[in-house]
Amino acid sequence: MGEKTIRVELKDRGYPVHIGGGVSAKHLPPLTLNAEVALVADTHVAAQPWFAPLRDRLAAGAAKFLPLTVPAGEPAKSLAEFARLCSALARARISRRGKIVAVGGGVVGDLAGFVAASYLRGVAFIQVPTSLLAAVDSSVGGKTGVNLPEGKNLVGAFYQPAAVVIDLDFLPTLPPRELAAGMAEVVKYGIISDPEFFDLVKPGAPADLAPVIEKSVAIKAGVVADDERESTGRRASLNFGHTIAHAIEQTAGYGQWLHGEAVSVGMMGAAWLSHRLLGLPLTVTQDLRAALTANRLPVTISGLEFDRLAPVIAVDKKSTGQKVNWVLCPELGRTVQTTAVPEELVREAIEVCAGRKDI
Ligand SMILES: NC(=O)c1ccc[n+]([C@@H]2O[C@H](COP(=O)([O-])OP(=O)(O)OC[C@H]3O[C@@H](n4cnc5c(N)ncnc54)[C@H](O)[C@@H]3O)[C@@H](O)[C@H]2O)c1
Repeated sequence: MGEKTIRVELKDRGYPVHIGGGVSAKHLPPLTLNAEVALVADTHVAAQPWFAPLRDRLAAGAAKFLPLTVPAGEPAKSLAEFARLCSALARARISRRGKIVAVGGGVVGDLAGFVAASYLRGVAFIQVPTSLLAAVDSSVGGKTGVNLPEGKNLVGAFYQPAAVVIDLDFLPTLPPRELAAGMAEVVKYGIISDPEFFDLVKPGAPADLAPVIEKSVAIKAGVVADDERESTGRRASLNFGHTIAHAIEQTAGYGQWLHGEAVSVGMMGAAWLSHRLLGLPLTVTQDLRAALTANRLPVTISGLEFDRLAPVIAVDKKSTGQKVNWVLCPELGRTVQTTAVPEELVREAIEVCAGRKDI
């Protein structure tokens, strides 16, 4: 299989994203030569057949090697796990020459990235995303962090990796539900920035994921290069569907719904708001529903209630002052941001998300 490299253009903090079958064998040993390497993975990933050869190769190339495992799932994105990993690095006397290699989904990437940003005030960090969501979204862009009981991603840092290595040979072991969850972010890229790409992914995930991952990474890399720290609003466009999604995840308890599943339902709410407020044609909302369904994603979650979601939406970290900053879509391929969304429309959107209101 061929390899494609996309560069995230961030001047001295720019980095390559290597995508292809077998790319980890090519790119990981040279990066770790004579280095002190801490390899972070969760228990599911560490049990996959491709993991041991990768671990052994990294260990063989390193002067000092520290394998670290965290429990699989969102609860590992905690201050407790963060502290445990930092202590393990300190006990192993990993120095500033240390490199942290995060192998796994977005949970391990976000957690290990925040450890890399913080330990000794920053050591090098390499992302090896192995879930579709991590490959197309979380591994690129440098957002790292952990959750608090008060909310998701409330503590963290912008910290760019030195490289991202997406080995397509690792993806086939991903459970179908996780694959579908990753497709939610892929569909999102189509909706917010590329109608042609939306058409490509409308029928469902293709057997060959390479073009889907390459295009998604290219879109994300372009947005991040334009607005690394979410200061101009361009990067915030990636949050389409996420305001409601975060509220769903938090009120349901982490782990009940996968992030991508919550984003899928959240996008239906955002599309409805876009229709009612900005005239997004209803056909686009219906197309979005069809695309998400074809990608085996939920488009409604029964039992969602405005009264439970609204207080969580109100403390969304993307809020400006007292008002929630909604990312909406006036037409396929373009977003705008607005704080002027009347409460009754949010109620309607939640009715759509709950499946009590048809579109
Ligand atoms: N930093 C960002 O910009 C950003 C963007 C989007 C999402 N996120 C975060 O990402 C997290 C979700 O990431 P996720 O969906 O990857 O979840 P995850 O990290 O929990 O991974 C999903 C599951 O798949 C397993 N897995 C991963 N790769 C596998 C493989 N190849 N074979 C078999 N099993 C595999 C994992 O062990 C886990 O059980 C959330 O915490 C979310 O907040 C971060």
